[in-house]
Amino acid sequence: NFYFFLESIRPYIDLIDTLRSVGIQKDLALPTIVVIGDQSSGKSSVLEALSGIALPRGSGIVTRCPLELRLRNEKIIEFGDPSLVEKHVEEAQNELAGKGVKICDDLITLEVRSADVCDLTLIDLPGIARVPVQGQPQDIGNQIKRLIMKFIEKQETINMVVVPCNTDIATTEALRMAQEVDPEGIRTLAILTKPDLIDRGTEKNILAVVQNKVIPLRKGYVMVKCRGQQQIDEKIPLVEATQIERDFFQNHDFFRPLLDENKATVKCLAIKLTQDLVSHIKKSLPKLDEQIKKQLWDVRNELKECEAGPPQDLKGAKQFLIKILTKFNDKIKSLSFGELIIKDN
Ligand code: GDP
Ligand code: NA
Ligand code: MG
Repeated sequence: NFYFFLESIRPYIDLIDTLRSVGIQKDLALPTIVVIGDQSSGKSSVLEALSGIALPRGSGIVTRCPLELRLRNEKIIEFGDPSLVEKHVEEAQNELAGKGVKICDDLITLEVRSADVCDLTLIDLPGIARVPVQGQPQDIGNQIKRLIMKFIEKQETINMVVVPCNTDIATTEALRMAQEVDPEGIRTLAILTKPDLIDRGTEKNILAVVQNKVIPLRKGYVMVKCRGQQQIDEKIPLVEATQIERDFFQNHDFFRPLLDENKATVKCLAIKLTQDLVSHIKKSLPKLDEQIKKQLWDVRNELKECEAGPPQDLKGAKQFLIKILTKFNDKIKSLSFGELIIKDN
């Protein structure tokens, strides 16, 4: 099996997924891969190729809520209808963000169990939009950037930046944002899409980018070729697309060397991502353990204060009651005023 050597990594990814599903990420930052890029840069196409599942896509804003995609390499006998995934994701988005073109911070989780996927968990985010479309608030661009920032600024996040080859790579907004939060490029990985659409004569420049000679990133670059609109319309299956991708690189005058350098194809990307995520999780575990211990210690201390219960004498009991009531009152106030805590002495 192609994914055989990756078998020992499942427990690490499971641990983090479990912590996330019980809501730990509200208190602790968990290791994650986050997918960012401009609208129509090819984010959904890359995720589709990695998962083998058709996701909602198209022109304009399609991903409107963060979508957590859990891929599990499992032999399955029973299977649901994968063609319904698109519809279910759309329904979930409508419920969370409302029908239309608005975005929302709530996470949707989609789990894919298949013998054909790598063990991997990624979060897809709305694409960076420049101009609002009809029905969108004027500041939609900033809203999306704020949402992206919330994910990528965390040290525990691996930023997977999707950039089409047929644009000016150096000036890509998503890459700029990743550089802002990760100036040394330690946790940023770039995916170059649409290599079949580049302008003639720019091949050498793009090759230099993939070989990390132009905008150096510690985690480097991978070039992938996904299905174009025409191939989607013609319903070319993903399996066939994988073969087409391989042929594309093998027959390419400039990009062929990338195959041997492990810098091309979706398959190569899948392996690289899984390895990156697991080594990232391993590195984060001691810190996570430390954070959990500290929070536990704080809670225990708080508990200790309550353990003794109210003092037995009347005066002490009154003071105790007043202290509890004041605390309760402060809590209510801070809840109803958001960040604003009013203290009247
Ligand atoms: P997203 O908005 O970033 O999620 O982008 P999509 O994945 O929806 O892709 C936008 C368009 O680009 C779609 O029509 C895709 O078919 C097309 N596309 C994506 N990757 C490639 C590629 O490698 N080659 C070609 N020719 N088209 C691609
Ligand atoms: Na799109
Ligand atoms: Mg998309």
